[in-house]
Amino acid sequence: MSQVHGRGIIAAVSSEGVIGVDGRIPWRYSEDFKRFKRLTLGSTIIMGRLTWESLPKKPLVDRRNVVITRRQIDGVECFPDIASALATCEGDVWFIGGARIYEDAMRFADFIDLTYVPDRVEAPGAVYFPEIDEAIWEAGRLEPDPENHQLKRRVYRRRKRDSSE
Ligand SMILES: NC(=O)c1ccc[n+]([C@@H]2O[C@H](COP(=O)([O-])OP(=O)(O)OC[C@H]3O[C@@H](n4cnc5c(N)ncnc54)[C@H](OP(=O)(O)O)[C@@H]3O)[C@@H](O)[C@H]2O)c1
Repeated sequence: MSQVHGRGIIAAVSSEGVIGVDGRIPWRYSEDFKRFKRLTLGSTIIMGRLTWESLPKKPLVDRRNVVITRRQIDGVECFPDIASALATCEGDVWFIGGARIYEDAMRFADFIDLTYVPDRVEAPGAVYFPEIDEAIWEAGRLEPDPENHQLKRRVYRRRKRDSSE
């Protein structure tokens, strides 16, 4: 996909809709990491506290890192909710997870960029991507990643709101 602008949700999900297990992502695809970096560089990335804690190297460089939490964490900007974080943002914003952030970000995002990994993940500690309401989101075409055809991708765009509402 070419560079997009606005507020996007970005996630990788297993066939079952799993995004993480026990505080980590249970797969690794370098093509997807490279694409994630390319898309998010220069923008604001908004994440939940557990996703921040899960990052092996933090902050993610050359991006404004923002954490949503009731706590204060040294070395990173923190906000108690997404709306107050967004009030300080200019330019492109990516909601990078985890599940709680994705769920709340559905109200604020213009599009959802999903990568489907081929892994099967069944684990008691699994967390899932929230349901996508197709009355609100229009599904784009399912396309393979050009560098790794095992990975499929779909972008959902927010449907135009009915102006008579
Ligand atoms: N596959 C992927 O693309 C992907 C991407 C990112 C993360 N992940 C995985 O997702 C898992 C983490 O997800 P998660 O849902 O458990 O945690 P999370 O959303 O990363 O963090 C949850 C915490 O963030 C704060 N928070 C999140 N949303 C909030 C909101 N709307 N308002 C106020 N506070 C909010 C709260 O922090 P306080 O308790 O401090 O107040 C909450 O306890 C990990 O396994 C991670 O590896 C996967």
